[in-house]
Amino acid sequence: MTISKQRPIGVFDSGVGGLTNVRALMERLPMENIIYFGDTARVPYGTKSRATIETFAMQIVDFLLENDVKALVIACNTIAAVAGQKIRQKAGNMPVLDVISAGAQAALNTTSNNKIGIIATNTTVNSNAYARAIHAQNPDTLVRTQATPLLVPLVEEGWLDHEVTRLTVREYLKPLLVDDIDTLVLGCTHFPLLKPLIGKEAQNVALVDSAITTAEATAQALAQAGLLNTENDSPDYRFYVSDIPLRFRTIGERFLGRSMEQIEMVSLG
Ligand code: DGL
Repeated sequence: MTISKQRPIGVFDSGVGGLTNVRALMERLPMENIIYFGDTARVPYGTKSRATIETFAMQIVDFLLENDVKALVIACNTIAAVAGQKIRQKAGNMPVLDVISAGAQAALNTTSNNKIGIIATNTTVNSNAYARAIHAQNPDTLVRTQATPLLVPLVEEGWLDHEVTRLTVREYLKPLLVDDIDTLVLGCTHFPLLKPLIGKEAQNVALVDSAITTAEATAQALAQAGLLNTENDSPDYRFYVSDIPLRFRTIGERFLGRSMEQIEMVSLG
């Protein structure tokens, strides 16, 4: 039993953005070993078709299963939106957590006026996955989604408090604010880094950070499955990517909030 609890949690994303989830997991579950895979050679996923994303996602899951993970965390909203079901089928009894289920639940728990806004990539918005997850629990909730693709490169550029980003956010949020949302889901790995700026542009709106809510859901799922690692003072963190682009470490460390010691390159498919 102890041995199986020592197995790592597998976290994956289309690229570097999922490190926001790793950061939240490290804070919430400091004794867990973690393996991260970021598909940096094929990012972005947010503009790709469902079929392509499904194929890529299954390759990543195979890699993580070969590495003997005890649970899977789908950190990428786009993967969760289009391939979540397939991944669960493949994983069998293993706990599978994803940012959309956790984010939708947190939004429902947060809203008072039952009006929720979602900002995400084009593919996530087109999949309607957030609205489906919310309406499955409360069909009367007003869900307004807004594709915000420009925010991904702005975050990667590090323009977290830049005038260009502020104006872009302001423009994107206009229709959501007109609809009087009181809760906004940051439905993309990159957006937790924009919390301070979005908070200023959407005053009196509660922000749902799916990285934090997913870490909480992971803690609960592991506890339920008897898989929580409670005896590990020096957790092992391994980072795998399909490419190491220029500035990867700088951007990655910004997302992670600490230095990345081991980064290894593997090619999938
Ligand atoms: N990780 C993606 C998401 O959360 C954003 C980047 C991409 O488009 O691949 O939707």
